Amino acid sequence: MLKNVPSGGAAAAFALAAALCVHGAATAADAPKADAAKSGAKVDYTKIAPPDLVKQTPKGQIKNPYNDSQADIVADGQQKFLSYSCNGCHGGGGGGGMCPPLTNDVWVYDGDDDTLFRLVTLGSDELQKAGYSRHGSENVVGPMPPFGTLIKSSDDLFRILTFVRSKYSANADPHYKYGTPPEQK
Ligand code: HEC
Repeated sequence: MLKNVPSGGAAAAFALAAALCVHGAATAADAPKADAAKSGAKVDYTKIAPPDLVKQTPKGQIKNPYNDSQADIVADGQQKFLSYSCNGCHGGGGGGGMCPPLTNDVWVYDGDDDTLFRLVTLGSDELQKAGYSRHGSENVVGPMPPFGTLIKSSDDLFRILTFVRSKYSANADPHYKYGTPPEQK
């Protein structure tokens, strides 16, 4: 399970630098570094709790370092989805149940990485206090509970959300997989 986590002092040094970097908020100079971090080597999300990442990152800039073509991440994300009981409300395949499906092209707040990360971390109530409102309407409406303090690390949440992406239905409009396309905002 830890095989994707970089080990050794170099990683620790990276993590520290990365934490400081995130803390310093986004400057133009940070953007290329964030891109370089896509490999997972630079920003060590395994060491940042989701609520901290939410606090440290300007709105709109949380980016999942994984994508759903990475089968090992998807499989791990699925295990975590089940272990945090997301399936209790959303169904084991994310297709809904008592609560909204995660697989269709309707996103309650929006479907981009940043919004989904904040929703699962803060829950509906806090997200709305942060200025978000429901604009997509699912067949079931209710509050999503806050999971930020339960989920061990931002890395775990990224993995879970990668699994969620992988369940995006083949019948749903592919343009909306990551939320409202920029040209429609
Ligand atoms: C107690 C039931 C419950 C549990 C447990 C739960 N959710 Fe939710 N979830 C909801 C509800 C209700 C909504 C709709 C929120 C709203 O309308 O404000 C939602 C919304 C979502 C959305 C956005 C869906 C959309 O169409 O925009 C995602 C993604 C999501 N949940 C992921 C998760 C993950 C990941 C977990 C586990 C860590 C989880 N949920 C656990 C009830 C739950």
